[in-house]
Amino acid sequence: MTNQQDNDALTIAAPHFIGLLMEMEHQARELIATTDKSAEELRILLLGPKSELGKLTKQIRQVPPVDRGNVGVVVNEVKESIEKALQKKLSAISDQLSAPNDWFDVTAPGIRPPEGHLHIVSQAITEITRIFERIGFTRVRHPEVDWDWYAFESLNMPPHHPARDEWETFFIDYPGKPPASRADLERKEQIVLTPHTSNGQVREMEKGSLPIRMINIAKCYRRQLDVSHTPMFHQFEGLYVDKEVSIGDLKGVMDFFFKGYYGPDRVSRLRPFHFQFTEPSFEVDINCGVCLGKGCKLCKDGWLELGGSGMVHPNVLRSGGIDPNVYSGFAFGWGVERVAMMKSGTKLDDVRLLYSNDVRFLEQF
Ligand code: DAH
Repeated sequence: MTNQQDNDALTIAAPHFIGLLMEMEHQARELIATTDKSAEELRILLLGPKSELGKLTKQIRQVPPVDRGNVGVVVNEVKESIEKALQKKLSAISDQLSAPNDWFDVTAPGIRPPEGHLHIVSQAITEITRIFERIGFTRVRHPEVDWDWYAFESLNMPPHHPARDEWETFFIDYPGKPPASRADLERKEQIVLTPHTSNGQVREMEKGSLPIRMINIAKCYRRQLDVSHTPMFHQFEGLYVDKEVSIGDLKGVMDFFFKGYYGPDRVSRLRPFHFQFTEPSFEVDINCGVCLGKGCKLCKDGWLELGGSGMVHPNVLRSGGIDPNVYSGFAFGWGVERVAMMKSGTKLDDVRLLYSNDVRFLEQF
């Protein structure tokens, strides 16, 4: 064998050499991650002169001279990568050593999770219900999607009556024909998202038991969205029907509510107004909580407007099957959001905030 042949036999091709290096790097990192040998032991084992990598490095002379530079770069990269893995192991161990003990004080108070509370509108609904309960009004539920009949017609507002315009109503078409067994639905064919809680009046009368003392609190919907309106809001509707119910009873019930809800200094007044479903009709004002009726920047003349009320119109009693010659009644309907905001004293400049679900805002109430 010539010298030349001898040298050829000892040549290691660069790709093969690099392949061996990669394989070693992989095995070394795996060992570092899984063994419980110390970092120092590992350094000798993996990077020392007698290590596999050390032995291989010495054979770099067998790589053809043209490739030796590149292979040398890879050797250094592999060594650095193993060194980094060793450093990482070392610092993880020192972290563990400097970490506080696993010991913990079982008597120490726990961390309180953040606690929620009811939305201001839900709080108001509960409080309104409780106050009226004390004078015998029971909270009832009536549909929030209802026939036009209950929302308008039965309340003395036939189709196309101009008074309806005020309610900016969402109408829904009845899908298909009303059930044949309920022929009377013919006149009720149109469905609405209730624009007020007054639809509960005739529904309550239809239950057929007298006297009536109901408080209907529900969602209402109108085609309105601006700083003082949301398309969904809440109203509470009171209805009292019995023999010899008078405006005096209406005034008494209102004052009872205002004193219970706003405090003993508050009184209400009735201001003549017009609604199709009450005769006479009133708007209800409450004396201003800031100046107690003297007149200030908030109220101007000492009074704040709350909502509508009146003596139930004879036609409405008739719609509910009640004889207006024997029975009379009063009704009122106010916005829950408005009533609640007046209590909290917050001059909300945008009522939409109530429904924007921003916890920072809602936490205030
Ligand atoms: N439903 C009326 C509205 O939404 C408010 C109202 C006025 C209700 C007079 C009543 C009432 O029961 O008697 O504007």
